[in-house]
Amino acid sequence: MTMADRQGLAQDTGVAAAAAPAALPRHIAIIMDGNGRWATQRGLPRVEGHRRGVEALRRTLKAARDIGIEIVTVYSFSSENWSRPPAEVSALMGLLKRFIRNDLAELHEANVRVRIAGDRTALDPDIRALLVEAEALTARNLGQTLIVAFNYGSRQEIAAAARALAEEVARGERTPESITPEAIEARLNTAGIPDPDLVIRTSGEMRLSNFLMWQAAYAELVFQPVLWPDYGREALEEALAEYGRRERRYGGLAAGR
Ligand code: FPP
Repeated sequence: MTMADRQGLAQDTGVAAAAAPAALPRHIAIIMDGNGRWATQRGLPRVEGHRRGVEALRRTLKAARDIGIEIVTVYSFSSENWSRPPAEVSALMGLLKRFIRNDLAELHEANVRVRIAGDRTALDPDIRALLVEAEALTARNLGQTLIVAFNYGSRQEIAAAARALAEEVARGERTPESITPEAIEARLNTAGIPDPDLVIRTSGEMRLSNFLMWQAAYAELVFQPVLWPDYGREALEEALAEYGRRERRYGGLAAGR
């Protein structure tokens, strides 16, 4: 999608008034937090919060496509989430399976390219097979890119990149001096994907929690009080409006200073 298309879409969906089209982020990354609290507040099991979280994810992805966001990354399961009760871990695994099974055809139809970030080695073989299928089916789609971070941790990702580079040095294929930020970037799960411009975290928590710490070096961070199961088009537009009001300097000076 061209920039002009994205701007046109932004105007069509009415987001233009809130966030200037020129300031639309290319890549947004979302920490979908607050599922458990949403459920507990209603006297429901935590797993019900995650189920409703998948519905919020569907709504939000559809809105992001309509608005013309090129890349969306979502944090669906962190490397640290294994420490949750086994029933909750297995419910999250089940939701990923169902999400891929039920939504893959629609995502493919919508020209979405699906990529998975994170360590797959610890996942069940049937989930691994589904992830491979989702990536293969959608690999040539040129619309939106959806990156599902699953069993993902930023420190683990950076350590793996460091390990890969150290092995290349040990084999005599490169020198330590050749290890640049670009060399590390090329070995991250997100290699070739532009960095997120905007990181959104819901539920009022203000942390990155081991999510895209390398990639988010210059991202704008927007924290919203809404719990993830209540998220959707309106909340996304509010986050985009906030992003539109920020001045991004990348370590430089503001205009006119
Ligand atoms: C944080 O809420 C959310 C998660 C740990 C998982 C996010 C998962 C989904 C939105 C559904 C799964 C989606 C896919 C694609 C598998 P929390 O449980 O930490 O909430 P709390 O802080 O209120 O307890």
